[in-house]
Amino acid sequence: MIELQENQLVGKGLHREVYVHPDDSSLCVKVVVLRGEEETRREQAYYKLLQRRNIVWDMLPQFYGVVETNKGEGAVFELIRDVDGSVSKTLEYYLQSAQLTEQYSQGIQHSLQLLKDYLLSQNIITMTIKPKNIVYKKQDEQSGLCVIIDNIGNSDIVPLSSYSSFFGRKKIMRKWTRFIASMAKHYPDNQPLQIILSGF
Ligand SMILES: Nc1ncnc2c1ncn2[C@@H]1O[C@H](COP(=O)(O)OP(=O)(O)OP(=O)(O)O)[C@@H](O)[C@H]1O
Ligand SMILES: [Mg+2]
Repeated sequence: MIELQENQLVGKGLHREVYVHPDDSSLCVKVVVLRGEEETRREQAYYKLLQRRNIVWDMLPQFYGVVETNKGEGAVFELIRDVDGSVSKTLEYYLQSAQLTEQYSQGIQHSLQLLKDYLLSQNIITMTIKPKNIVYKKQDEQSGLCVIIDNIGNSDIVPLSSYSSFFGRKKIMRKWTRFIASMAKHYPDNQPLQIILSGF
């Protein structure tokens, strides 16, 4: 049983809280705080499938199983950090300021292209892709990696796309197109972002 400390909270979404693992600062522990059991079950099932398929984990955190914590069952993942050691910030954070987007636009643009290619080449199926569920792992001023930290998997009753890269590709392209369109719509005043998106 591990003890999660409030001062080790790295982030929270609508359903989960994420803490630095008390025994290993390269890991994080995610605990459900509000009706996230179903999503967690789907996520873990999908991770098992990816592990069996032996994918590369460049733009997806590794999953290391579940542990008992003082806040209930926790799922252990790789904690994504920038090169300087600080916990990577979400893409949402970088898009909320046009000035920040501008500063990192080269890296953001390139990392989005890399992410798209990665999802297609590894046939990784996502639910809706959102900037709050991607962290930008900053390498230096010009480069970084977009890592998807939430909302992967497949809720189809017959999840053909999980097993067939033919159907997978169609689904990934559809999700990607919606992702690009939703960012364009959500940040109309972010000019540097609009320029990045026009390349997709
Ligand atoms: N592996 C990780 N590395 C770095 N930061 C992370 C990681 N996983 C989560 N985070 C941070 O914690 C926040 C919440 O995590 P997560 O998105 O998994 O929670 P959630 O409750 O499932 O979210 P949602 O509201 O999308 O359902 C993220 O937005 C991100 O800032
Ligand atoms: Mg999330």
